[in-house]
Amino acid sequence: MKVLRFSVHTRTFHQVLTSILLLLLFGCQTKENTKTEAWKPTPLKWTKPTNFPDPVYNLSKNPLTEEGVALGKTLFYDQVLSKTNQISCASCHLQKAAFSHQGQSFSLGIHGQLSKRNSPAIQNMAWNPVFFWDGGVHDLDFVPFNPVQNPVEMGENVSNVIEKIKKVSDKKVVNYPKMFKAAFGTGEINSIRMMKALSQFMVTMVSADSPYDQYVAGNDNALRSEQKEGLTIFKKNCASCHAGELFTNYSFKNNGLAPLKANDTGRFDVTRLDKDKYKFKVPGLRNIGFTAPYMHDGRFKTLEEVLDHYSGNVIKSETLDPILIQENGETGINLSKEEKKKVITFLKSLDDQKFLENPTLASPKVSAF
Ligand code: HEC
Ligand code: HEC
Repeated sequence: MKVLRFSVHTRTFHQVLTSILLLLLFGCQTKENTKTEAWKPTPLKWTKPTNFPDPVYNLSKNPLTEEGVALGKTLFYDQVLSKTNQISCASCHLQKAAFSHQGQSFSLGIHGQLSKRNSPAIQNMAWNPVFFWDGGVHDLDFVPFNPVQNPVEMGENVSNVIEKIKKVSDKKVVNYPKMFKAAFGTGEINSIRMMKALSQFMVTMVSADSPYDQYVAGNDNALRSEQKEGLTIFKKNCASCHAGELFTNYSFKNNGLAPLKANDTGRFDVTRLDKDKYKFKVPGLRNIGFTAPYMHDGRFKTLEEVLDHYSGNVIKSETLDPILIQENGETGINLSKEEKKKVITFLKSLDDQKFLENPTLASPKVSAF
């Protein structure tokens, strides 16, 4: 309700301003009346999947509209957001990989530089209370400032992006002032609106139609029997961290990866507390068949390697999660070869083809350059 009031106020304010300006410029010309036409964006219907909890993202603060989502999508796929005008959000977040970067442990940013961490999937962001592997950001609306301004990713600054967007010359291909006006009531282009539009688009990236979801909805045939067995093994051994329907409890854990040369200390980067060293956000596992390579540094190419890690290669350290220490003091999760196979077949039931191929999330094939 508040938001509605705010937008009405903005419009009234804008109308008053426009009228004064017009009066000053043209006297009492009435021809310009079209300028004050009521702004009516089309609300976008967004339904929570029945097996999902309530979203964390505050949709009443940024109500989804067709115009807002369309603008967000155009920005997401536009290379104008980077310093070199060569990298878009979609360069590192590809739809066919659930908006992760398939095949890349690290992603290429501007001037061929590598990102510090593996590009995570962007899906079901409306349920994410914390962003990035180290949880450095708490609000989806603030996420894009990071890649845009990160010197090895897009290397640009947001105010410069705004200036470039204002000047995008080929208005036939993309007319940002018109799109901002359709989305927010006036043609004003600013960073808050840009971030809100990007969030609106990202909030529409909902993946909830995998065979697993169909099984949960009551279709017993959606999973094969070995997948059902895999689910049981998964629930017993993995679901304390990869919990619920999003397959993460969004906590920060050390799952026993051996520190590599880069020595990424994870959550410690944010809190500077020793207890957080080498802890990373538990990732959700939806579309896991398409988001390889795995872990914050993309060290594992296959799910077999991931399962081998949990069963035999968990490294003991001060912050290793106690769940991964057995009663006899050994580390890891005891799983036979057969059990690992079953868990993997289950994990693949989280792949959601419709999401990966959803045309409404695909590139509008628009680039300002
Ligand atoms: C050069 C590659 C690259 C580009 C370009 C890029 N990202 Fe990312 N993105 C990443 C990496 C790497 C991470 C993980 C960073 C970390 O955890 O430290 C990430 C993380 C994210 C996350 C958090 C996901 C989660 O689960 O926590 C979101 C959301 C996101 N990016 C959206 C965007 C948007 C929107 C853009 C464009 C404005 C963008 N990214 C551009 C590589 C990129
Ligand atoms: C103690 C909590 C915990 C348990 C138990 C756990 N995981 Fe994880 N898992 C994590 C964390 C944390 C990461 C990310 C670690 C990193 O990148 O440094 C992760 C990463 C993964 C990944 C990679 C995902 C990606 O997008 O890169 C897969 C796959 C995975 N786990 C599967 C499993 C399976 C299967 C089990 C049970 C056999 C399991 N996990 C048990 C915490 C846990």
